[in-house]
Amino acid sequence: MNILILGGGGREHSLAWAVKQNPKCDRLIVAPGNAGIAAIAECASFDICDGGMVVTFAEENAVDFVIIGPEAPLAAGVADRLRDAGILTFGPSEAAARLEASKAFTKEVCDAAGAPTAAWARFTMSEPAKDYIRDQGAPIVVKADGLAAGKGVIVAMDEETALAAVDDMFSGEFGMAGAEVVIEEFMAGEEASFFVLCDGLDALAIGTAQDHKRVGDGDTGPNTGGMGAYSPAPILTDALQAKVMEEIIRPTLRVMSERGTPFQGVLYAGLMIEDGKVRLVEYNVRFGDPECQVLMMRLGAQAFDLIHAAAEGRLAGCRVNWADDHALSVVMAAEGYPGDYAKGSEIRGLDGLPEDSAHMVFHAGTRSAEGRILANGGRVLNVTARGASLQEAQERAYAMVDGVDWPEGFCRRDIGWRAL
Ligand code: AMP
Ligand code: GLY
Repeated sequence: MNILILGGGGREHSLAWAVKQNPKCDRLIVAPGNAGIAAIAECASFDICDGGMVVTFAEENAVDFVIIGPEAPLAAGVADRLRDAGILTFGPSEAAARLEASKAFTKEVCDAAGAPTAAWARFTMSEPAKDYIRDQGAPIVVKADGLAAGKGVIVAMDEETALAAVDDMFSGEFGMAGAEVVIEEFMAGEEASFFVLCDGLDALAIGTAQDHKRVGDGDTGPNTGGMGAYSPAPILTDALQAKVMEEIIRPTLRVMSERGTPFQGVLYAGLMIEDGKVRLVEYNVRFGDPECQVLMMRLGAQAFDLIHAAAEGRLAGCRVNWADDHALSVVMAAEGYPGDYAKGSEIRGLDGLPEDSAHMVFHAGTRSAEGRILANGGRVLNVTARGASLQEAQERAYAMVDGVDWPEGFCRRDIGWRAL
């Protein structure tokens, strides 16, 4: 089979790594890819959010199956264009991708599904939003409705911060994403992520993870796209996972299907757990990054069979073969991230690191130039390891981190602390 993966981060490197190990994969192309991906696949360069271009490329290259990594092409309807052209695709339609692209839409679906989530209200004008905040009191959460690159959520511990957030959003700070604002009850508890493959009708849980959003050790400093992750998340016991499937995931899929917009792809549920009670924080319609890297490490080549089955509507007969182990990924980022950072510094020492089913350095923002690996983004490497225990996975990952010679980079030294 000829397979095209859209995206060029650590998530897509780990997807390519798993797909490549599967004997069904003949030719693997990734667009745009990165230096790590280029070592295992062909890389191509075109606008992956332009459905017409993606279809043309796929047709010219006899692509049998397209796997879409990031949310932007999904929200732009690239999966629809591919399916219209008769090309098998993993990833939701533009209509179903609204589960990530609009927070108010997700809340409506949750209400229709009876899925437990924070109490909420939506506003298109500032004064009624502020009255609602004064009425509810702090802590309270203010969210731009649309996609805002992870920056559109303000968890306000006092009323003033919440009121200021409303002003910021309606003054256009988040562009069109902030034209509508959702205000939510603050939920206390521990967060964890739950990943489910969906084929429109059936759903298959493929793993749990926890990430570390803040840039600094001890969860300090500004938010990032994620500084590390591990799987499984011990707080999501089998019993809790079954409850999430029954109370949140299946009812959501039923409502999506009844609305005429069935969900096919991976549903990434961000959950809040408090005293054995689970509520939905948000949905994403793609794999998490770096959560995908730890899931792929644990699933290996079978990940491709499961993703393929989801795209073909064959999940009902599928099972996951779990290795009873743990995986942990440490993000190495360019000094300055998530603020300003420089590109182009050289990364040495990668050749000396182990590379096998228990050790992998997935590349995020890298490019190669004359045989050298150069940093080319904020999050640059995802140093990932498996172990019989989380502690062993952590030790292996940090042993690899210590073998990377990159003075312009940094990482957190405490990935996994919550579970250890
Ligand atoms: P989101 O972009 O919706 O994932 O929100 C980003 C982060 O904000 C989440 O991962 C939570 O840590 C936090 N958050 C979002 N909504 C709530 C809520 N209702 N209560 C508490 N924390 C929240
Ligand atoms: N690591 C968080 C995300 O991918 O949204």
